[in-house]
Amino acid sequence: MSEPVHHPEEHPHEPSPGPESNLPDLHIDRYEAAWIRITVITVVVFALAVVTATASYGIQVPGVTGRIDPRTLMEPSSPFAAPQLREIAPGKYELYVRAQVWSFAPLDPFNPLHIPAGSQITFYVTAMDVLHGFKIAGTNVNVMALPGQISRVTTTFDQPGVYNVICHEYCGAGGPTIGHHTMYGVIIVDPPPAAEASAQS
Ligand code: CUA
Repeated sequence: MSEPVHHPEEHPHEPSPGPESNLPDLHIDRYEAAWIRITVITVVVFALAVVTATASYGIQVPGVTGRIDPRTLMEPSSPFAAPQLREIAPGKYELYVRAQVWSFAPLDPFNPLHIPAGSQITFYVTAMDVLHGFKIAGTNVNVMALPGQISRVTTTFDQPGVYNVICHEYCGAGGPTIGHHTMYGVIIVDPPPAAEASAQS
C-alpha cells in the first residue's frame, strides 16, 4: 500500500507538504474534478446506450454486400431488373430494390406491397443513376443507395401499419431537380389473421 495522498481541499487544516517534499502538487479544483467525473459518466452512459441499442433494438451498421455495374441493372440476368418480394423461409423474405429518379422499384406507392405482421425482410438496395437514400420510417432501416454498390439491411415488421419508404438524399443531378420529394414507396404490414378476425367481430 502506498501512502495516502493528502488532499488540501479535504483537510484544509493539515499542513501541506513543505518545499522539501518530492510529492508533486496534484491539486484539482473542486469544480474541475466534478466536471471530469460528469464527463466520464456521460461517456460510459453513451457506450452503454450503443451496446443496448445493438443488443435490444437491432441497430446495425449497414453492410456493403457487393458491387454491381449500374449499367447492367436492367439486363435480364440482373436481380434488380424486375425485382419481386421473395419468401426464402417461412416469414422471411428478401427484396431487391432499385433506386432511381424518382422511385424505389418495385415499391410502388400506388400499389403497395403487403406483408403479414412479424415478417422479416432483407433488403438489397442499389441505385441506377445517382445517389439516393433508403429509409423506412419507424424501423431501423436507413442506408444509402449508391450506383455500383449493393447495400444490405434486415428488419422485422412486428407492428401492423403503413410504412413509408423515403429517399433522404437530395437526388436529381443531371436533370431538373424536381422529383426528390416525390420519391417514396409504401409497405403495408397486415395484422395477423387472428387479430383481423377479432377486430371484425
Ligand atoms: Cu432519391 Cu432523393
